[in-house]
Amino acid sequence: MYKLLFDLVFKKMDPEKAHHLAFFWIRLASSVPGLRTLVRLVLAPRDRALRTSALGLDLPGPFGLAAGFDKNGVGIDGLAMIGFDYVEIGTITGEPQPGNPAPRLFRLVEDRALVNRMGFNNQGSARVAARLAQRPHTSSTPVVGVNIGKTKVVEEADAIGDYVKSTERLAKYADYLVVNVSSPNTPGLRNLQAVSHLGPLLGAVREAADRSTAHHVPLLVKIAPDLADEDVDAVADLALELGLDGIIATNTTIGREGLRTSAARIEEIGMGGLSGAPLKARALEVLQRLRARTEGRLVLVSVGGIETAEDAWQRIIHGADLVQGYSAFIYQGPFWCRRIHKGLSAKVRAGGFRDLAAAVGSAKASS
Ligand SMILES: Cc1cc2nc3c(=O)[nH]c(=O)nc-3n(C[C@H](O)[C@H](O)[C@H](O)COP(=O)(O)O)c2cc1C
Repeated sequence: MYKLLFDLVFKKMDPEKAHHLAFFWIRLASSVPGLRTLVRLVLAPRDRALRTSALGLDLPGPFGLAAGFDKNGVGIDGLAMIGFDYVEIGTITGEPQPGNPAPRLFRLVEDRALVNRMGFNNQGSARVAARLAQRPHTSSTPVVGVNIGKTKVVEEADAIGDYVKSTERLAKYADYLVVNVSSPNTPGLRNLQAVSHLGPLLGAVREAADRSTAHHVPLLVKIAPDLADEDVDAVADLALELGLDGIIATNTTIGREGLRTSAARIEEIGMGGLSGAPLKARALEVLQRLRARTEGRLVLVSVGGIETAEDAWQRIIHGADLVQGYSAFIYQGPFWCRRIHKGLSAKVRAGGFRDLAAAVGSAKASS
């Protein structure tokens, strides 16, 4: 049914408008108490075997919504209502900014992929912090990750100050905090992945988070799939050295290899980060590399090209404690999480695992 809706309505709409419309419906449904309960019952049934703990947090399952969908933290409860086990909001920058001019989001339907050059359009750390401050924090509110990045107009040399500002404002509301240094749409941002820049940045964010809250806020770094393998290893080593809590891999790619979409169309779309199915193989590869390097000492969150329960399962058995997705949500719609959860439950049982956590990294043991 969603396929029909997608083909008849969304596919013909500008992708960013379609996003706003769909997100509006989700928020609307979650604001009506009876409807919210009903939708949750249908879309978010939870098998106890999928319950998992990571980063010191208890989650109903491993499958979260990746950063970029809810940039300002305006629809967290609605997104949990449709089945996401946790929601990563952002990227949020120190200062508000409009992002790049539209059009800036494109569908590559034949590739089940997206290209975006949104450029961190967001309301800025002060406003998002004020919104998060209003949220009740109870055991039934979803786990919220807060993903932070650099304000475009801030010089690369002053990047640390901008991340620190966001951290001071947002850390106390974050169940976990992500330093995003991997989006391709802020000039120079990805240079911060170089260990010489990343070390001081992560150190400063860690200190700022510790100053802002009495409790430990888990800190993760999100990396690009375009890093060379040695650089992936270097980030892993740095994360261990600094006592980071985890790594999120991966963000979108600047690569355009192996696409079905015509070269002319790709050229017409232009710059931006590619996400969705074409990212699958590299995201798995980066995960395997990180797992080999860190051997369970860091929480690994795998994202990039996850479409099916099988994809999510592959990540889990290759060492991902948590998984996330974004692009396939656009193509598969509101039943996506339900399908992933059902498939994962079946796999946990078929594999004879006690629970999902017992399956993490099991591919290595059996291969
Ligand atoms: C439209 C769009 C906007 C995104 N914005 C962000 C962002 O602000 N911050 C971020 O860390 N990742 C962002 N991402 C990347 C996703 O979080 C994710 O890492 C990437 O899309 C790969 O996952 P997927 O193949 O499941 O989409 C964005 C992705 C898309 C498609």
